[in-house]
Amino acid sequence: MTDGVGSDIFGEDYLHFFVPLLDDERSEREVELIWRLLMPAPGARVLDLPCGHGRIANRLAARGLKVTGIDNDQRFLARARADAAALGVTVDYRDGDMRAPPVHGGFDAAINWFSSFGYFDDEGNRRVLRALADALRPGGRLLLDMHDRDALVARIAAAGEPVQVVEMGDDLLVDRARFDPVAGRSHTERIVVRGGRVRRTQFTLRMPSFPELRGWLTDAGFSDARALDERGAPFASGARRLVVLATR
Ligand SMILES: C[S@@+](CC[C@H](N)C(=O)[O-])C[C@H]1O[C@@H](n2cnc3c(N)ncnc32)[C@H](O)[C@@H]1O
Repeated sequence: MTDGVGSDIFGEDYLHFFVPLLDDERSEREVELIWRLLMPAPGARVLDLPCGHGRIANRLAARGLKVTGIDNDQRFLARARADAAALGVTVDYRDGDMRAPPVHGGFDAAINWFSSFGYFDDEGNRRVLRALADALRPGGRLLLDMHDRDALVARIAAAGEPVQVVEMGDDLLVDRARFDPVAGRSHTERIVVRGGRVRRTQFTLRMPSFPELRGWLTDAGFSDARALDERGAPFASGARRLVVLATR
């Protein structure tokens, strides 16, 4: 899919099935990791791209950072703004495409968090990295957080076809994934049952290996990239997530 995973995957179903799983405890834990890895100076400028419904951006703003959040889904932005108002924090939320975000440079840090990378063809994915580099000041730092592809491949080897089931009352979301090692892409068939109606959709994600991603980051203008796991420790086999810390 060259123009991204788009509205089939996000929007209303994401709000219904996934947002309840991204609860305060989980979001706080993730913000704590982001904080520890970025070590932002008081009042640092941070770009959250894409920001989704603002769960990370609002929390970073509550800790005193100057946050800009960009997403292309109006429902998520509306939710993010409403939550910011309820929390009494200010975030500059903007509608935009992560390949060409409406920002100028000068950010101290940028995050692309919670499996928000790999939505496009390789040129599009590289454009996202260039946009993140362009947004940062020299010495600014980027954090990327994604599913680890080797963990997915291991699950496929162990279980044949990994199935994720999310239940919300009587509604069900079922994801069946496979991995194409030649293209470096996962392909997922999603079945959603809501109010007794069944809908099917498919999406694909580019999942670069870390050495491949490091090459893309270098091409985009980053000077170094470290591979970490979901606790911020050096990445090793068995990690569920790959967290990359790179410096412009
Ligand atoms: C998995 S969510 C993660 C959101 C957020 N980073 C978080 O941690 O909750 C991915 C987000 O990417 C957004 N998105 C998808 N394609 C996009 C694009 N082309 N430009 C900007 N945002 C996009 C979706 O609307 C969704 O909010």
